Amino acid sequence: MLSKSPFILSFLLLLSLPLLFFLVPRILPPKTLPSIPDPDEMDDLALFRRATLASDGGGGGGAGTGIRRRPPSPPKIAFLFLTDSDLSFAPLWEKFFKGHGRLMNVYVHADPAARLHLPPTPSFRGRFIPAKATQRAAPTLISAARRLLAAALLDDRANAFFALVSQHCIPLHSFRFVYHALLTDAGAPPSSTSGGRLRRRHRSFIEILSSDPILRDRYNARGRNVMLPEVPFERFRLGSQFFILARRHAVLVVRDRRLWKKFRMPCLKSMKDSCYPEEHYFPTLLDMQDPSGCTHYTLTRVNWTGSVGGHPHTYRPPEISGDLIRELRKSNSTYSYLFARKFSPDCLDPLLEIADTIIFRD
Ligand SMILES: *[C@@H]1O[C@H](CO)[C@@H](O)[C@H](O)[C@H]1NC(C)=O
Ligand SMILES: *[C@@H]1O[C@H](CO)[C@@H](O)[C@H](O)[C@H]1NC(C)=O
Repeated sequence: MLSKSPFILSFLLLLSLPLLFFLVPRILPPKTLPSIPDPDEMDDLALFRRATLASDGGGGGGAGTGIRRRPPSPPKIAFLFLTDSDLSFAPLWEKFFKGHGRLMNVYVHADPAARLHLPPTPSFRGRFIPAKATQRAAPTLISAARRLLAAALLDDRANAFFALVSQHCIPLHSFRFVYHALLTDAGAPPSSTSGGRLRRRHRSFIEILSSDPILRDRYNARGRNVMLPEVPFERFRLGSQFFILARRHAVLVVRDRRLWKKFRMPCLKSMKDSCYPEEHYFPTLLDMQDPSGCTHYTLTRVNWTGSVGGHPHTYRPPEISGDLIRELRKSNSTYSYLFARKFSPDCLDPLLEIADTIIFRD
């Protein structure tokens, strides 16, 4: 009896091990921030696969090599609105779009929790895409942006550029100015000559920064070395979440599985202040795949002076003036800034007042 009991004891212990594995995660609080729910991820995979297949077959993306079918003309700009509250500036955007319906499309991803009703204006009507919940410090904003890209790729083969904006963004120029700047980008690398005419590949206007003191913490936000081997620290990039992608890059983003596998991992709770996945995924992916096809700067102006808790300066009605608009347009790159953020919703009226005389007059 005595000689047997250690065996029984260890046998029982062994038996309880799986139970322990099962119970411990339920008793201890999770060490990580929210992750992507599996059903959302499955839905996205199906959508992205459809968008990728449609783009490969249609040739509109021109992502592959070989014969490139001419995109249907005229090329359009897809405006991708990402919001978790409202679309207060819809009337201003409507003014911006007016008369250019042939050259643009609007797509809206609104967090279902916002219970947003579409603004009853022509460009936004019926432009909601199927959306899922989004939150800060989670990879959900990446998913939302990819959903918008996929929806716009599938919807219209004429979409040549994909501009991601939020509910706090405003246009700084007329539609004609924006369209012309993007479609005649002189910095774009030449792709081919046809009939003596030089054809250029569209560039993506996306910020890509490679040296920043915060980069190391951001890299380790999901744990030490967990980004390896797909993303070595030397290849990890930083940039504004608001970009304008050329079509072939939109296809590339929607097709990606390799980097997404890493970026979709939730951050550690202890790294909450370093968790901004959407500021890294797009610049890192594009810098790895096609650095010379990107400008490395954004055309969306943001004021980080005196920022609090990761939020940039938010403009209020008394600050709105023609001088502010002219100041916000100034950039250090070849191009004037085209959009700006962040503006509080009550800026709508003062902005509408200067829309015709200043913003859209260029
Ligand atoms: C940026 O924000 C600061 C306040 O945080 C303000 O004083 C400054 O005028 C703003 N700059 C521009 C160009 O609007
Ligand atoms: C342009 O560059 C200068 C010097 O780096 C910087 O101080 C300034 O803020 C930049 N302006 C804009 C509009 O980015």
